Amino acid sequence: MSLSSNEIREKYINYFKEKGHEMVPSAPLVLQNDPTTLFTGSGMQPMIKYLLGERYPSGSSRIVDSQKCFRAVDIDEVGNNRHTTFFEMLGNWSFGDYWKEEQLRWIFEFLVDELKLDPKKLFVTVFEGDEKNGIAKDTESAEIWERLFKEKDIEAKVGERIFYYGVEKNWWSRAGSPDVMPIGEPGGPDSEIFYEFDIEHDPKFGEKCHPNCDCGKYLEIANSVFMQFKKVGEGKFEKLPQQNVDFGGGLERIAAAVNDNADVFTTDLYAPLIQVIEDATGVKYVESGNKGKMQIVADHLKAATFLIDEGVIPTNKTQGYLLRRLIRRSVVKMYELGDGLYKVEDFGVLCGKVVDIYGVSFFRNPNIKELAREVVEGEVGKFGKSLEKGWKEIEKKEPSEIDAAFAFDLYQTHGFPFEITREILAEKDVVISEEAFKAEMEKHSNLSRSTSADTFKDSLGS
Ligand code: ALA
Repeated sequence: MSLSSNEIREKYINYFKEKGHEMVPSAPLVLQNDPTTLFTGSGMQPMIKYLLGERYPSGSSRIVDSQKCFRAVDIDEVGNNRHTTFFEMLGNWSFGDYWKEEQLRWIFEFLVDELKLDPKKLFVTVFEGDEKNGIAKDTESAEIWERLFKEKDIEAKVGERIFYYGVEKNWWSRAGSPDVMPIGEPGGPDSEIFYEFDIEHDPKFGEKCHPNCDCGKYLEIANSVFMQFKKVGEGKFEKLPQQNVDFGGGLERIAAAVNDNADVFTTDLYAPLIQVIEDATGVKYVESGNKGKMQIVADHLKAATFLIDEGVIPTNKTQGYLLRRLIRRSVVKMYELGDGLYKVEDFGVLCGKVVDIYGVSFFRNPNIKELAREVVEGEVGKFGKSLEKGWKEIEKKEPSEIDAAFAFDLYQTHGFPFEITREILAEKDVVISEEAFKAEMEKHSNLSRSTSADTFKDSLGS
């Protein structure tokens, strides 16, 4: 029988504890005293100071954790077999301690010897270098990989099992590639591990398949970042005072690899949620055309439950707006799946199921089940009343009659977050730009003598 996700997490933590790592709890999703971001989007976010050289409070130079992450930027990507806004990132850290040799060996051995992944299904990528910023090609990692595969009787050739990629794929910093990093930001080359699924390459994504191809045949399950540089000027990088390792591997994706099924929504971290959605809507997950909507509901309500656990409530600003968007988008998808029908209580059941999947002790609030139900059902109830009216408004209009003023009216009168309207209209091939929407909002706020056009106003009924 295949390992459960809880077992995978436990095995990972124990494996690195045995290698001298101190286990630390996940930092919150909403970081206090960190104005640089709304949410913790990677395991690295809470570790920045230590990567830059500050001593870790316990004095440890080896840390292992499982960090809860929320990536708001990925919200529109959800709706396929592998993208989620909420995920857990298994992480191990070397603060000026071990380096490439240990890191690549340990993570490879963890995947192959502990999780029993078939090494023939693993493919790796390394950094090809960036002449412009004076950063060398990472031949050292490629050589290590060659040796590690050889120990498993696999001849790993460049271009067949080991692939070089540039700054877009094999460089990691919070901001992205070296050119766009702000001065002072740490970053470094990385080496990723991909799992190959037994599915046909889709030529729509290019003639030849390769690990970073978007067809879904390969899934990135592990990323070892060699965090060794700091940007000090345009085109200028200096070595950090210490060489660090920042490893991140998505638990959901590793579980998909362990199951040898490319769809993370079939893992035990999501399957119970899909089941509730099937029962509530009478629609089957496997039927084509429905998967994306079900994936969105499962992902968004899971993320919502975790945000509520951190004290976030639906509002029209910052974290609260994201939570509102997640819940309202789920309502729209359930409405579509159920042909205009859905029950408010089904949303509470879904939140309860999220808590059951992880166990209540995984959450910060011991009353998370009741709290999430109350908050989510409250928001669903509020939005649900106007959803149908707004929906009818949309259906009444010819595409040519739809403009930004109409999108603003849907927002103002019926509580449709702009992003949701945009998504519904895209299905009618109507494009409304965010600028045009904001201009409408500005007009309105001028009229009502308000001062800010960027802040989502309280017209959504918070
Ligand atoms: N910080 C690296 C990532 O998020 C590990 O992929």
